Amino acid sequence: MLRIVLTVSFLFWNQLAAQNPVDEVIKLCERDDCLKPEVVINDKNYDEVELEFRQWVQTEVGAVDIKSALAIGLDKLFSYARCGNVAGTVIPLTASWGVFGYLKNGKIQQRFSVFVLIVPEVINPPEPTDPAVTLQTGPHIWYYGRVFDKKVDEQQTEELVIQLLKDLEQDNQPFNSTFFDITYFNTHGLMAIGFVKTGE
Ligand SMILES: *[C@@H]1O[C@H](CO)[C@@H](O)[C@H](O)[C@H]1NC(C)=O
Repeated sequence: MLRIVLTVSFLFWNQLAAQNPVDEVIKLCERDDCLKPEVVINDKNYDEVELEFRQWVQTEVGAVDIKSALAIGLDKLFSYARCGNVAGTVIPLTASWGVFGYLKNGKIQQRFSVFVLIVPEVINPPEPTDPAVTLQTGPHIWYYGRVFDKKVDEQQTEELVIQLLKDLEQDNQPFNSTFFDITYFNTHGLMAIGFVKTGE
């Protein structure tokens, strides 16, 4: 089995709303190789975070909820890392991993894009052999996000997404409300929920 090396690839910083999650992410970050965000702005009870360039593998999944989307999607992505690529080699993956989810009329849709980051040391990752798996790169981007550090179930996760959506709408923030992301940093529930800021 491929071991996912738990390094934090990017970091949501949150001083006001939640001291503990931030401490935890920082601890991870100090221990492991960590790419910090360029700029972090504390804003009300969420943060504005600028993420660095990063690369990941992704696959689209139709599933009833986030948990089952992750189960189906991560399996395909680990196959890519376990020689399921045109180079027939092992590609090291790293935290974080998660899903992009889609919203319609304030409801989470039953389709998700599941992703896992590829370590930055891999400069030109080989193409996947499975056409359902794609390589992605992200430019500098701004997010509105919140960090959590306790395990939450499916229903609570969905409620946290909708809560952030409503808070951003109420504050008239410029963000893309058609999709969100849920990013996991470790297996103990250290998690960030984010929406992409628009107009940057
Ligand atoms: C929001 O994101 C979707 C999906 O990437 C994109 O098609 C759409 O144009 C974006 N809308 C805005 C207002 O940026």
